[in-house]
Amino acid sequence: MSPPLSASPPVKGIARTWWTTRAYLQRFSTYARMCGVDPRTANAYWSEISRDKWLIEELEGRLRETGHRIDKGSLGGQVASQTWKERLVVGSGLALCNLELYTIVRCLRPTVVLETGVASGISSTVILLALSRNELGQLYSVDLPSVEPGGYLYPDGTLDGVSTPAELGTGWIVPSRLRGRWKLQIGRGVDLIPRIASRVDDIGLFFHDSEHSYENMMSEFLLAWPYIRGGGCIYADDATWNSAFLRFASITVDVQGSAITPALRGIARKRAAGLGPDSVGRL
Ligand SMILES: C[S@@+](CC[C@H](N)C(=O)[O-])C[C@H]1O[C@@H](n2cnc3c(N)ncnc32)[C@H](O)[C@@H]1O
Repeated sequence: MSPPLSASPPVKGIARTWWTTRAYLQRFSTYARMCGVDPRTANAYWSEISRDKWLIEELEGRLRETGHRIDKGSLGGQVASQTWKERLVVGSGLALCNLELYTIVRCLRPTVVLETGVASGISSTVILLALSRNELGQLYSVDLPSVEPGGYLYPDGTLDGVSTPAELGTGWIVPSRLRGRWKLQIGRGVDLIPRIASRVDDIGLFFHDSEHSYENMMSEFLLAWPYIRGGGCIYADDATWNSAFLRFASITVDVQGSAITPALRGIARKRAAGLGPDSVGRL
């Protein structure tokens, strides 16, 4: 298991850097194992995307064309301001979470990826690029766009600052060259997950990045899980915002292992020999 998030001891300077790096490397190898590969294989995919110039040029081109900006949680480097620390870890124009997402799709080689929460479409682009390099797989994305410039409030009062310009539309940044493997549906995740999942073959990866309220996260995980193939994974953004991911991973039958990744996302892998649709634990 990766070290607990609050495990950093009260040390300063070099010792603290050493501790942070060690915790990071442990998390990296844990999630590599979760994807069924050794850390060296995961690292090779990580290097592949960190050095990818085509993707950054493509995304920057779209940003120039539209005059739109994207928050630095998705892109960094050349496109938006990036602190030296972020640059050190990321080393490219893509944020840590997207390097991780790409690596996971490359490692898992899923035939179906289901994603909730698209906004401009950076994560969709990253998944589609990985599928195209795998020469395998389809991406089904679901988004309920928030077009208010200030973002929107979750039912629990949390403000989500992400919004999609109405004139550009959901997923506007996804390069046309990658759209062949993509099916986008507009609606609420909890409504569309069962509809899509029951029509596609086994889901190899379910990626949650829609509304991060406890209720919505837990509902999406519970709805998607029965349709995930043995050896497939749930990967959840902002897994430490609330206890939904950790609770889900601890109560659900068929979870082979779970971890918090370097980007503080949650990953849970399903046992290879699944127990079927009734395998979700009781709340
Ligand atoms: C954080 S953004 C997604 C960012 C994207 N995954 C990326 O990394 O580029 C969240 C998106 O989910 C949408 N959303 C919010 N609640 C949703 C729901 N219940 N179902 C589907 N989409 C939702 C928001 O409007 C927004 O477009």
